[in-house]
Amino acid sequence: MATNDDQQRIRKLALTCPELHLSTEADVLQSHGQDWTRFREPAAAAIAFPDSIRQVQDLVRFAEQNQLPLVPSGGRTGLSGGAVAAAGELVVSFDRMRHVLEFSEIDRTVVVEPGINTATVQQLAADKGLYYPVSFAAEGSSQVGGNIATNAGGIRVLRYGLTRDRVVGLKVVTGRGELLDLNRGLVKNATGYDLRHLFIASEGTLGLIVEATLKLVDPPVPGKVLLLGIDSMDNLMRVFAQLRSRLELSAFEFLTDRALHHVMNANRLPAPLSSVCPLYVVTEFDCPDEQTESRAMACLEECSAKGWLVDGVISQNQRQMKELWRYREGISESISHFPPYKNDLSVRVSRVPEFLRRMNRLMNEICPEFEVVWYGHIGDGNLHMNILKPETLDLQAFEARSHEISEHTYALTRELGGSISAEHGIGLLKQPWLDRTRSSVEIGLMKELKKVFDPAGIFNPGKLLPG
Ligand code: MLT
Ligand code: ZN
Repeated sequence: MATNDDQQRIRKLALTCPELHLSTEADVLQSHGQDWTRFREPAAAAIAFPDSIRQVQDLVRFAEQNQLPLVPSGGRTGLSGGAVAAAGELVVSFDRMRHVLEFSEIDRTVVVEPGINTATVQQLAADKGLYYPVSFAAEGSSQVGGNIATNAGGIRVLRYGLTRDRVVGLKVVTGRGELLDLNRGLVKNATGYDLRHLFIASEGTLGLIVEATLKLVDPPVPGKVLLLGIDSMDNLMRVFAQLRSRLELSAFEFLTDRALHHVMNANRLPAPLSSVCPLYVVTEFDCPDEQTESRAMACLEECSAKGWLVDGVISQNQRQMKELWRYREGISESISHFPPYKNDLSVRVSRVPEFLRRMNRLMNEICPEFEVVWYGHIGDGNLHMNILKPETLDLQAFEARSHEISEHTYALTRELGGSISAEHGIGLLKQPWLDRTRSSVEIGLMKELKKVFDPAGIFNPGKLLPG
């Protein structure tokens, strides 16, 4: 809840920065005080909508002097509570800073404000005959500033890497209101510590991202999508290795039969294959000519002959590509109403079969009462494990039970050298478990770094780092 003190500070801010657009309207506090997580009630004191770097700097200086906690907010599609304001904070929304500032054909870069949609950047790149490869289901709503703050991944990481790999320049306002202009779009810059990378994945705890220079790439050659049915994780990995050695894969995603059930149900989709399988893969490969398609078909036949593949379908045109992708991209939304307790785990790709085998055994032992839905970016070792809330359990009791399960999940993830968050971030929800994935020495150093960039501790308090 926002206290009288919080409200007084907001009034003082309005007087100090009269040009800054501030809102305390109930529906804006509600919409901008939360992200897609459903485990915390929003309780922001106000929402600020700066429209220039200068306004962001003035706001931060005020916040530093008046101990006003700030929650940076993008498209609010996060799944770890990183953009939730549940304790009377001021939310800093970048909705008014969404412009394209510059495009360079020679550098193949675009300079944007942080509030621009991911999909708008993709479209801009396409209009210039290029490609922005960060792609995920929430791209129509998510903003580039948030993508950078969480180092967003998505379905094309296998080929193009993460958001980090696209950021060649970053302007950031630190906790003292200073403006850093980092790397300035350079390809090579061997002048010591690359501070840019500290802000990427910092979840808004070190500074506010106010401008980004993004590197675009060649447009992809025409592709085809395969949806495959497979009977075991070992066979899935065999098929992955086989396809990867013969084709240029740009995505390799998996889903279980439970995930397929939910996405079909929610979207009234027909079964994609005539066979029913425990596991499915959606994969895309470059297919510029008929020889490549024949090579793909021969490869699939070989996989079938070896008993690795049960069934499969290949797209024949753009429309079918989109339709096949829906079976993977629609899953998250199809289960969002339960709501799910989301785990965003990663291990090295080679350890995925062992990890999933042991996780399934563990879940059957410790929480047979819950439905667990798996899907994710198996080609890069990132698996989304969603525990669905039964209707009979209230949200609090479900969260408490899910936390008990997390102790076991994270112990196994740690044993296999993995991470408790691959792309969703730590935020508010995973913060109590940061030490399951980072050593105490690392966490100590992270806290020291936080003090350097944000001495007054105003940026996203309570998120990512333990207090
Ligand atoms: C996805 O891969 O679909 C997204 O990360 C969202 C989710 O995990 O639900
Ligand atoms: Zn994902």
